[in-house]
Amino acid sequence: MAVLVTGGAGYIGSHVLLELIAAGEGVVVLDDLSTGFIENIPAAAPFIKGSVGDAALLDEIMSRGEIDAVIHLAASLIVPESVAAPEKYWRNNTANGRVLFDACARHRVRDIVFSSTAAVYGDVPSSAGRVSEDFVPNPVSPYGRSKLASEWTLNDIAAAHGLRHVILRYFNVAGADPEMRAGPRARDATHLIKVACEAALGRRAALQIFGTDYATADGTGVRDYIHVSDLARAHVAALRGMRSGALVREIFNCGYGRGYSVLEVIEAVARASGRPVPAERAPRRAGDIGEIVADNTAILSRTDWRPERADLDAIVRDALVWEEALSSAPPRRAGDRS
Ligand code: UD1
Repeated sequence: MAVLVTGGAGYIGSHVLLELIAAGEGVVVLDDLSTGFIENIPAAAPFIKGSVGDAALLDEIMSRGEIDAVIHLAASLIVPESVAAPEKYWRNNTANGRVLFDACARHRVRDIVFSSTAAVYGDVPSSAGRVSEDFVPNPVSPYGRSKLASEWTLNDIAAAHGLRHVILRYFNVAGADPEMRAGPRARDATHLIKVACEAALGRRAALQIFGTDYATADGTGVRDYIHVSDLARAHVAALRGMRSGALVREIFNCGYGRGYSVLEVIEAVARASGRPVPAERAPRRAGDIGEIVADNTAILSRTDWRPERADLDAIVRDALVWEEALSSAPPRRAGDRS
């Protein structure tokens, strides 16, 4: 049997594949390579190039009877882009997700892990503190809304057709596989830690600090950064929990419960690289919020997932080593050890 991993050629998907394979799972990757990289797919993993919105292709894949679970990561995920082109987000995330969940119901693929986001919560008042899953979602970006709509779609389809599902709401994912088998490859990154590493290594002129007047301790945005390898293991834990019958219909925040400001991230990158990070103040970015930090009590109490790399310096170190490797030589194909 095998787990169908959509978006397996992406940044998070490549780490999920490494963890699944390490756990002895069979995998099949479905990815349209619109933003993913073929190099991210371990050589041992069967790969199908195509869209999760292609119902006929899903029928073909699922009718072979070997797929017993789906981890659905394929999505568009850039907040500012979603403000400029919301139709892309409603199509790729919500409409295509519906086609996939529908296929799971048709073919009795019972266990689904869905990649969602902290962006579903929206602009959380600072008095709320850490955000738990029962906080009423109120997304402020088309990206967040398209993901929340996908959550609802999955919830309804799963309830009607007896499927189990775990929704993982990712906070800010960063870093790279500590063994450097995978990491973020996109050249036009918008995520803070990657951008800061590129700036430290002289690959960008300067980092822009988007907003210095938020209601946070130093005025810059505060986020809960989670190491991508820890996040990847959360998917395996979710799968294990569903198969054991312990998890049927769940939503889990994936974060460490500790927030860092943009300035603190810049300092961490400067510390790790031994070089200053050129940075300049800039206006707030469209769709951004001030502060969001996870309450991760639910995932800790309901699954066997335990963070192993909950340390900003460790995240930044792995991100920097990866970034240096990217510039000197093409990193090895994920999963290749020789
Ligand atoms: C958001 C989503 C997250 C999603 C991600 C994908 C929220 C709360 N989170 O993360 O779930 O997975 O998008 O795109 O919506 N920053 C700078 N300069 C930069 C880049 C970022 O100052 O060059 C600041 C941002 O303003 C923010 C913080 O750094 O305060 C983190 O930004 P980023 O890494 O882009 O992720 P989010 O937008 O928080």
